[in-house]
Amino acid sequence: MVCGGRPLYGETRIQGSKNAALPILAATVLVKGKTRLYRCPKILDIIYMLHILREIGCTVFWEDEDVLVIDAADCDGYEIAEQYAGKMRSSIILLGSVLGRNGRVQVPYPGGCIIGKRPIDMHIAALQTMNVHIETHEKTLSAQTSGLTGATLDLALPSVGTTENIILAAVTARGRTRINGAAREPEIAALCDYLNHAGARITGAGTETIEINGVRRLQQTTYEIPADRIVAGTYSLATVATRGSTILYDAPIHQMDAFIKIIQSMGARVSRIRHADRIGLVIDAEQAVHAVEYLETKEYPGFPTDLQSQLMTVLTTADGTSRILETIFEERYKIVGELQKMGAHITIQDREAVIESVPRLQGTTLQASELRGGAALVIAGLMAQQTTIVENAHFIKRGHEDIVKDLKELSASIKYL
Ligand code: EPZ
Repeated sequence: MVCGGRPLYGETRIQGSKNAALPILAATVLVKGKTRLYRCPKILDIIYMLHILREIGCTVFWEDEDVLVIDAADCDGYEIAEQYAGKMRSSIILLGSVLGRNGRVQVPYPGGCIIGKRPIDMHIAALQTMNVHIETHEKTLSAQTSGLTGATLDLALPSVGTTENIILAAVTARGRTRINGAAREPEIAALCDYLNHAGARITGAGTETIEINGVRRLQQTTYEIPADRIVAGTYSLATVATRGSTILYDAPIHQMDAFIKIIQSMGARVSRIRHADRIGLVIDAEQAVHAVEYLETKEYPGFPTDLQSQLMTVLTTADGTSRILETIFEERYKIVGELQKMGAHITIQDREAVIESVPRLQGTTLQASELRGGAALVIAGLMAQQTTIVENAHFIKRGHEDIVKDLKELSASIKYL
């Protein structure tokens, strides 16, 4: 429940990145020993992934508040059960690492989700090029190999998950793998940084050409998960939405250029502050908020699709008309109906969202139906004068450790019902 209409003020700390932590957790399976992860976010998707790792033989425990230990010495399983994998489509990221460790894997076929059908054709085609035999049945996908072999792969589009699966399969494969047209997201760089810490030989992470020289085994290591650029962007937009002024400590500012340029064009003042050994992103948005004439979501380093719904929400009361084209996922305008219930003027004209300004949003009861859209509806509640209830908050808990705690630290009037 959110009582809106007041600016956000104060400071909070940004959690570890969900989309960096998930592939790194999959990668720990390749290490015949312990991995210690610092700042792994305690979110639902991570909890599901830890259950899956336990099911295939890993020992997993929290050493203290925020050090997660995964001991994969005895990880000899290969069947990923539906119970958790069905709840989290990113379990497909285990294909490459469980194949690399045990030569075979069986995962539930990941369904699409509300933002798009989310096919995995590119994952399958890439692994088949690396000497993997894949069979797909209606509910499950099973794969096996007599030994992964390096290959040169040209990706038709810079798919994040496909790039990650290839890297995980290539790390201990025989020979060299080269990915042309690789995704450049910071989460890929974090995955490769972790793997190189463990003895892998990967170059080019963060560029569109990544090369992996297979090694025989990886050593145990420790790694700190980088902060979550999408959570930092979400709270930055909540600050702009409420004309507030906040400090977001540990935000990965260097990964947020395209995003920061957009909120600056809307009138926000953005700077950084150093406090003790911490760097904070300072967002000061106490003046009017301008519209965004036209924006396309793009693969990194462009404006991230994962912040599109949150930006759309802020633009509903900006001065002027904004246009957004979502180019990554074909169904990612699901919150339009919910925002219209609050009085927003949004129309979809041949795949473009046209957002005309209204003086303010009216609080009401809303339905979240996926993670980033759910967070966007919380922002809408912060903007509305009255009370807003966002139902299905479990979607938000998939990516936020505790959005209520964080926003309360930024002076929001918000609580779980
Ligand atoms: C990752 O999803 C993220 N998830 C998504 O974040 C993010 O939106 C997306 O990358 C784009 O940045 C994780 O990292 C766990 P893709 P992923 O493969 O890997 C098409 C969030 O809210 N495609 O780059 O699934 C696909 O349909 C989530 O944190 C194929 O056609 O993204 C989509 O249109 C949402 N065939 C486009 O590529 C394939 O085999 C981008 O998908 C694979 C993908």
